[in-house]
Amino acid sequence: MVLEVEVERILPGGMGLAHAGGKTVFVSLAAPGDRLRVRVEREQGNVLFASIEEIVTPSPLRIEPPCPYFGRCGGCDFQQLTYEAQLIAKAEIIRDCLRRIARLESVPDFVVTPSPDNWRYRMRAMWQIDREQRAIGYYERGSRRVCDVVDCAVLRPALQEKLEEVRATEWRQFPEGLKHLDVVQGENGVSFAPEFAGFHTSELSLTVRGEVYQFNAEAFFQINPSLLEPLIDFALGDASGESVLDLYCGVGLFTLPLARRFKNVVGVEANSAAVRFARRNLHNAELANARVITATVTDWFRTGPVGPVDFVLLDPPRAGAESVVIKGIVDLRPGAISYVSCDPATLARDLKKLTAAGYAIDSIAAFDLFPQTHHVETVVRLS
Ligand SMILES: C[S@@+](CC[C@H](N)C(=O)[O-])C[C@H]1O[C@@H](n2cnc3c(N)ncnc32)[C@H](O)[C@@H]1O
Repeated sequence: MVLEVEVERILPGGMGLAHAGGKTVFVSLAAPGDRLRVRVEREQGNVLFASIEEIVTPSPLRIEPPCPYFGRCGGCDFQQLTYEAQLIAKAEIIRDCLRRIARLESVPDFVVTPSPDNWRYRMRAMWQIDREQRAIGYYERGSRRVCDVVDCAVLRPALQEKLEEVRATEWRQFPEGLKHLDVVQGENGVSFAPEFAGFHTSELSLTVRGEVYQFNAEAFFQINPSLLEPLIDFALGDASGESVLDLYCGVGLFTLPLARRFKNVVGVEANSAAVRFARRNLHNAELANARVITATVTDWFRTGPVGPVDFVLLDPPRAGAESVVIKGIVDLRPGAISYVSCDPATLARDLKKLTAAGYAIDSIAAFDLFPQTHHVETVVRLS
């Protein structure tokens, strides 16, 4: 079925919203203000999922996507928008989630801080590998087929170089059954997991706000280093005191600066490689007042003997915090909470529980760590 629609705005998840014949239409890769002929791919209740057949009248916010893989590659979904329009869409996505999912009556004003580089910014990636098809790149949009990518326009130049080296490696050198490769760049090189051929799981470092972080491709590190200083500054605010929890702490991005301000810090992280680095990063910084526990935050709350806590910082993966975790935080009654999130929808779901438990939102800030995609990093401070 083909329909003609006008795109009203961008929704959480990155699709354009339109209406036709009493139905809601979600259009992928659209720009607000586009007049489009769209093909309906599938129907779910009152919602039609559609793709663009023809741009009848382009939105003034639309630009020609510069990447030749755009549309097929599942990596980017905002290249059709000017960078300013991307930032506006991200602010609307956050507001939409806070109103509809968190059910906040009023959302405090906030800005989405732009990334200084909106191309060639990524210092971490996962490259999918399909040995049979001889393809290396990213999953295609909405599928598990690998889009073979020669040049990825959002990779930092050093990672792009490594992509070319990996692509030039003979297929017989790839480990049997290798499905994907994690790569991350630091100040002193690039790390790969798993290791193969001449690609090593090297240990890297990066300095942020004077703190030195060591890590490798087996542990999480943020994708876009250029906004980490303002992200840390906003997440910590002027917090200080006796005790703090840093939940989902990774290699200690927030743990180190927190350990400079609080007497006692507990970090909780499930990935043992990340915990090893977090401990080492604290040790190298001579911060003996922090300990890092290897556990899922859920398990830790189920078993952890926890005393009074002044401040909780949490930075969960996209799925957000488990119900047990939100309940555990609320039961501790910290004076302030800072929630760092890479998914506004799960953030809003969890904020609904925190506000129902009596916490109020003091301030919000967003950081565009992921240009050319609908993803955005949001920090909400509550007390
Ligand atoms: C978004 S990252 C944040 C890491 C760190 N705060 C940073 O900014 O570098 C989420 C972290 O949570 C960890 N993680 C995922 N699920 C977890 C769980 N259930 N319990 C504890 N840690 C978890 C991941 O290994 C990852 O290090």
